[in-house]
Amino acid sequence: MNISVAYTDATPQATSLLVIGAWEGEQLAPPFAALIEADDWSGAFKKTLLIYPRGALAARRLLLVGLGKRTQISTERLSEAAAVAAQRARELKVERYLFDLPQIEQIEPAATAQALAEGSLLGLYRFLQYRTNLSDQERAEIDELIITSHERDPAVEQGASAGAAIARGVMLARDLANGPGNDITPAKLGEAALAIGERTGIRVTVLGLDELKAQGFGGIVGVGQGSAQPPRFIIMEYGAKQAGIPTICLVGKGITFDTGGISIKPADKMDEMKMDMGGAAAVLGAMQAIGELKLPLHAVGLVASAENMPSGTAYRPGDILKTLSGKTIEVLNTDAEGRIVLADALYYAQRYQPDGIIDLATLTGAIVVALGTHVTGIMSNNDALAGHILRAGEATGERAWRLPLWESYSEIIKSDIADIKNTGGRYGGAINAAAFLEHFVGDYPWVHMDIAGTAWTDQKPKAYTPKGATGVGVRLLIQMLRTWSEARQ
Ligand code: BES
Ligand code: MN
Ligand code: ZN
Repeated sequence: MNISVAYTDATPQATSLLVIGAWEGEQLAPPFAALIEADDWSGAFKKTLLIYPRGALAARRLLLVGLGKRTQISTERLSEAAAVAAQRARELKVERYLFDLPQIEQIEPAATAQALAEGSLLGLYRFLQYRTNLSDQERAEIDELIITSHERDPAVEQGASAGAAIARGVMLARDLANGPGNDITPAKLGEAALAIGERTGIRVTVLGLDELKAQGFGGIVGVGQGSAQPPRFIIMEYGAKQAGIPTICLVGKGITFDTGGISIKPADKMDEMKMDMGGAAAVLGAMQAIGELKLPLHAVGLVASAENMPSGTAYRPGDILKTLSGKTIEVLNTDAEGRIVLADALYYAQRYQPDGIIDLATLTGAIVVALGTHVTGIMSNNDALAGHILRAGEATGERAWRLPLWESYSEIIKSDIADIKNTGGRYGGAINAAAFLEHFVGDYPWVHMDIAGTAWTDQKPKAYTPKGATGVGVRLLIQMLRTWSEARQ
């Protein structure tokens, strides 16, 4: 669906569908108020009412969508209302529709337009690529959403197109993480990165098995050695290091399928481990959006990708791996593979002397136990950077919560026969994993985001988040980078 902005009054427009946001407990504006009986419409959040004005308006259909109470409005609520409206528009099989930009005191018009664009596109997201038996309803697509704005303000257009770029990044991440393990292999992730490079001008390099071995990526090679699908290391570089512009490294865990390896997982729900590259998917989606939005940054996306399989060539419990940093890891459980591939990627990030490193990883079941499936756990060595992530989480609704990373946690992962071991037992599992990662980031400001609970959903938690891969991280990262780069200039 294409999104455009028209500076015009929506009321007299001849269109097959006009959408108006309405406030709970407030009268509608004059031409609309006459079309409803007061008791039938409350304006309650996400409620809709479809009206056929039959000549009373130029529009053939009018859809009211509830924005809830004016005092409770937020960009997240706007996105949800926009998603509900877009879904209803698609049910009606219209080719295009108008959404009248609500005027909201607490929210800038650009942010309002961005929220509408994001919510509409993400609400329409479906994963149907592998289905060959689509119904008419499933084939229905809307060509265009026109956001109408009374005031001629270029910020509205900028907001709408930023929202669309961010939503495209989220959808790219969802497509990759929903894709099955037999299709989305490490090589495919590499190809997806190269395709992003072609579209945006971002420089992309993909290292294959021979290069990984030659350069000493012992973590990635070790985890990947049991699979017939060779591993990849992806480097995406947007912009260049220069004075006055901060450097950020985004690092993603890209395990394209996690069987657990020799320490094999139980069969129940193992299929969901096709999403164990959700961190990588978010990094790819965010890099694409950074390129499209031309953010004033030097941004490096790094993805460590492998498939974790049990086989005659697989790595074993007890093995000792030598990572890119030179540090050695005693493997006690081959299912704690994410931290091993990230060890190489995080160490690699140091060569950019970044102002910040953010890694995203579906790293531990423990974080799901601690925070549930709607909050991302973060751990960090830097209060300022962590603060930026927490605030961006609030602003986007991709909430995050910080767990401590005290010195004492690193005691738990010391090994007698190698430098560190890859598990620290059941207790505090999410933090033990972060303590492991901390060994590879040097003194650089770093935030680890454990998205094991949030990258996938069995429910439909928000109107703009369907079942399956959520694409979590993309919206938060872009929001965070916009404010962070501003604060650093
Ligand atoms: N990919 C899993 C973590 C995971 C669990 C992601 C649930 C999404 C949903 C990770 O590789 C893993 O297996 N972690 C182990 C670590 C343990 C062996 C120390 C875990 O959490 O059980
Ligand atoms: Mn695992
Ligand atoms: Zn994993």
